[in-house]
Amino acid sequence: MAEVVIVENAAAAGALVADEIVRLIRADPSVVLGLATGSTPLPVYEALRSRVADVDVSQVRGFALDEYVGIDPAHPESYRSVITREVVEPLGLDPARIRVPDGRTDGIEHAGADYEAAIDAAGGVALQLLGIGTDGHIGFNEPGSSFASITRVKTLTEQTREDNARFFPSIDDVPMHCITQGLGTILRAKHLVLLAFGDGKAEAVAGAVEGPVTASLPGSAIQLHPHATVVVDEAAASHL
Ligand code: GLP
Repeated sequence: MAEVVIVENAAAAGALVADEIVRLIRADPSVVLGLATGSTPLPVYEALRSRVADVDVSQVRGFALDEYVGIDPAHPESYRSVITREVVEPLGLDPARIRVPDGRTDGIEHAGADYEAAIDAAGGVALQLLGIGTDGHIGFNEPGSSFASITRVKTLTEQTREDNARFFPSIDDVPMHCITQGLGTILRAKHLVLLAFGDGKAEAVAGAVEGPVTASLPGSAIQLHPHATVVVDEAAASHL
């Protein structure tokens, strides 16, 4: 079972996880981090800002979980832009060492395999940050995703498009497809750190941590991992 850490608020979670990431960077300056988008990991990136001031991060490598398909990488809501804005620039990482799946339609047929090969060539992810969707998705692995899945193109569910519509002018502007690391890809990371805050995530967290291991709730895949840590506030822990 995953280790569950209940903290007072999102800032405390950010501090806890940022301390662990700094420890990893000090131990291995070219550590491979698994980055996540969405609002959930933002407190981690925020807490890292002050902590990396005196740490050499020039060699740190990173792989993002997912990207929309058919969005211009320069679009402000592409995950490439979000990772650049929230992680690469404020932390002073080398952009050439931080990869995001390539969601451009040109070449999309081999983008998944290329991404898998790049993760393998880097020696795998040391610590994978994860948020969780209200329907239990991790990355963009929506309910029904195989536990053995690798990076591939998926269709977004209506629920996820609605959840993410707040970042776009209207729901019609939310892409229909995405490219996401698979559950199998995620499970190969050495340490999974799933964060969740607020009562809107309570049901998904309870399902992921204590529910049956089922493709209907992709987050439950963490129960198959030997080193998974779930960091939640009281509200997100309320159904445990
Ligand atoms: C998106 C992302 C997920 C993220 C989820 C939850 O769909 N692809 O990686 O975990 O949303 O988002 P938030 O953290 O904003 O609640």
